[in-house]
Amino acid sequence: MNRYLWCLAFVCHAATGWGQSLPDEKIVADAAEQLRYLVKYTEQSVQDSTRVSPRTLESGELVLVRRSDWTSGFYPGILWEMFELTKDEQWKDWAQVATARIAGEKSNGRTHDMGFKVYNSFGKGYQLTNDAHYRDVIVHAAKTLSSRFNPAVGCLRSWDHNTDKWQFPVIIDNMLNLELLFAATKLTGDSTYYRMAVSHADKTLENHFREDGGSYHVINYDPQTGEVKHRHTHQGHAHESTWARGQAWAIYGFTMCYRETGEERFLKKALALFSWLSERLPEDGVAYWDFDAPTIPNEPRDASAAAVMTSALYELDDLVPHKPALRELADRIMTSLTEDYRNKKGTNRGFLLAHSTGSKPHDSEVDVPLIYADYYYLEALLRKNGKL
Ligand code: GLY
Repeated sequence: MNRYLWCLAFVCHAATGWGQSLPDEKIVADAAEQLRYLVKYTEQSVQDSTRVSPRTLESGELVLVRRSDWTSGFYPGILWEMFELTKDEQWKDWAQVATARIAGEKSNGRTHDMGFKVYNSFGKGYQLTNDAHYRDVIVHAAKTLSSRFNPAVGCLRSWDHNTDKWQFPVIIDNMLNLELLFAATKLTGDSTYYRMAVSHADKTLENHFREDGGSYHVINYDPQTGEVKHRHTHQGHAHESTWARGQAWAIYGFTMCYRETGEERFLKKALALFSWLSERLPEDGVAYWDFDAPTIPNEPRDASAAAVMTSALYELDDLVPHKPALRELADRIMTSLTEDYRNKKGTNRGFLLAHSTGSKPHDSEVDVPLIYADYYYLEALLRKNGKL
């Protein structure tokens, strides 16, 4: 290109913003406008205490879930994130109301999802307000979660269902619940929670990965001996395939464990997962629902997995100096999500992102908005801007 054309290209580029990602202030302003719809529709629909948080859309209508659903903490979490991003007290008021609705989960010992529910709501609220009641709920919830730890296995049990298939199932998603245990040790000085979290992460490191670096979804342990009995999937394409959100939970979980412990083995795993993703993600960085889905590129994407990965990558970039490829990949996914996966303002009941996949094998929540995609997208934005 001659000098004249270079100058022309530069002037056009500067004038139109072509090729540049949207400024983060604009993303926040857009999110605020869109999420006000989500609040409006949610608050219209929450009529009693049984259905409290939005999860997705079904035939265009908002699906609200009970507080016991694993996703119930994301709506309050989003409201806290918006408070953090905007400093507008209105978001804090909404967040406090939505958080209070799920407080009873602190005593629900029938699930491993305590971190998803309580840490992403009460945990975020505590970081922003120092409210002693939030602190008490976090500690109580961690105590309840710790009742699912089996010393012979060295892990927290994930599910109580399908006992014909699994005796002691541990799913890769469970890595995320460890953050609640780390928080409880910091708040109480009782190292029991910390030791359980490290044990669980170590067992996951040992048993949840194939030689090629892909993760298994479900490991079934013998609850008496701690031996691995089966390596299965539940939401992935096949037992030996790599479910996209599972891989996202893995990189997020090991990054968080490195942040909390400083242990090099967790960092090594997080970086290995980063290399794996760098090689396996499609051009726009937004994963198909399973990396081994049979008819890629004619398979649904999973924007939720992409959002989780982005948040993890920004955090990893923060923890690891001199590795610009981490932030480059995070920026690439973030730009794709922002440019090509956001719902138009005023549509889809106020959810931010489209094109997530809950569970393709169960034909459930395929190519829809999912509340946790929005939560991790906003978390990624916070991390990108050093606000977390
Ligand atoms: N933790 C449940 C899921 O990722 O679908």
